[in-house]
Amino acid sequence: MELLPQTLILCLALALTNGVPVAPHDAAVDDAALPDRCEGIEFDAVTPDEKGNTYFFKGSHLWSGFHGAAQLSNESFKELDDIHHIGHVDAAFRMHNADNPGDHDHIYFFLDDKVFSYYNHTLEDGYPKEIQEDFPGVPSHLDSAVECPKGECMADSVLFFKGHDVHVYDITTKTVKNKTWAHLPACTSTLRWLEHYYCFHGHNFTRFNPVTGEVSGSYPKDIRHYFMKCPNFGHGGDHQVPKCSEVKLDAITTDDAGKSYSFAGSIYMRLDTHRNGLHAFPITRAWKEVSNGVDAVFSHGDDIYLIKDDQVYIYKTAAHYTLIEGYPKTLKEELGIEGHVDAAFVCPNEHTVHVIQGNTIHYVDLIATPRAVTDFPLPLSGIDAALCNAEGIQLFKGSEYYKYLTPMILTMSRIAPHPLPITSALLGCRDA
Ligand SMILES: *[C@@H]1O[C@H](CO)[C@@H](O)[C@H](O)[C@H]1NC(C)=O
Ligand SMILES: *[C@@H]1O[C@H](CO)[C@@H](O)[C@H](O)[C@H]1NC(C)=O
Ligand SMILES: *[C@@H]1O[C@H](CO)[C@@H](O)[C@H](O)[C@H]1NC(C)=O
Ligand SMILES: *[C@@H]1O[C@H](CO)[C@@H](O)[C@H](O)[C@H]1NC(C)=O
Repeated sequence: MELLPQTLILCLALALTNGVPVAPHDAAVDDAALPDRCEGIEFDAVTPDEKGNTYFFKGSHLWSGFHGAAQLSNESFKELDDIHHIGHVDAAFRMHNADNPGDHDHIYFFLDDKVFSYYNHTLEDGYPKEIQEDFPGVPSHLDSAVECPKGECMADSVLFFKGHDVHVYDITTKTVKNKTWAHLPACTSTLRWLEHYYCFHGHNFTRFNPVTGEVSGSYPKDIRHYFMKCPNFGHGGDHQVPKCSEVKLDAITTDDAGKSYSFAGSIYMRLDTHRNGLHAFPITRAWKEVSNGVDAVFSHGDDIYLIKDDQVYIYKTAAHYTLIEGYPKTLKEELGIEGHVDAAFVCPNEHTVHVIQGNTIHYVDLIATPRAVTDFPLPLSGIDAALCNAEGIQLFKGSEYYKYLTPMILTMSRIAPHPLPITSALLGCRDA
């Protein structure tokens, strides 16, 4: 199985999240007065907005997205200095509240003892408020804040940072748990980006686990290499998203909760959160035991199955993926089949996995033991990856895919349909 061009993939973030165009250079603007984030700035706050565009705040200025020049914050969020004249925000985050659509995706700003809630760049009625009116038990004069949805934290939460103290606010029960993470640098801003949590300090950042505060990997790293485009910094690539015509997947899956992942070589990408940008991460970061890539991946209930050679790894989906005890097991033991697997899929709310090997498709009932396997011929071969969702079945082969409405139509057809080209809407790649 081939690898997508690594340097290109690693730079997807920069290329795709560039939702806002770079401000054209205007000779009339006094550039000298504008701060330059490539000089190495300690940000006051960093947060995405409801469109997934990331804002960086410093003093009376902000940057929108991962490139572009500074702008006055009061042009985008005008009441922040109208009311306060403080000149900077302490902390900001984008609310994730599955139970209350009224707050969901609002940006909250914290200034001294006040909180401001914005949606669509408009201050909500009743704001600003005292912080404790909205977030009882959370102190004033915060350093930073970041949302942590259920699945990544135990419950839909917000982490508030002040020095080395962390106040974990449960937004449903409105209760706070206090922790101290002395090993973590004091975070002047924090960001959740693509399920990863970043503490910004000085011009550096440190990635941390939002539940334990644990830091793994070598940190700190310089923000300018990863979160912005600066001369003499960067990933060493040309900041291009891979062309759709060059895509080659190993596997793809969507679980019942709607989380969608693609796999190629040693990396994976989360596809359904693409409004925040696409970024490739090592497979081992989420599924630590799978160190050699995958042949096929499928989701069933709360479990995700990763197949490599003759091994099947089953992980429970919780705050983190945890390998179920006793795994990996062999393909023969787990699914009753042998040999190299090309692709596999389970349709939503079903219990049959469809395993593709060459031009055969096996139906395996996941709730029957011992496993009962039924084989059908497939009018295609060389399939790389397969997905079944509300729109039907997609079989990926190189940069093209075949579409079928149901497994029944797939196994009944004797002639392959016309392949369709993979598009950016489907996989976040670059058209043309
Ligand atoms: C925005 O802030 C700048 C500098 O602090 C100030 O000169 C300007 O009048 C403000 N604009 C608005 C619309 O409040
Ligand atoms: C967002 O704000 C703009 C400008 O203030 C307005 O035209 C638009 O209708 C608003 N959109 C929503 C969804 O409220
Ligand atoms: C957590 O810390 C805040 C601020 O220091 C304090 O007001 C609150 O009582 C503490 N809560 C608990 C449960 O310890
Ligand atoms: C940033 O991190 C580097 C190590 O990667 C360290 O040498 C440097 O002192 C840090 N700078 C700041 C301002 O934190």
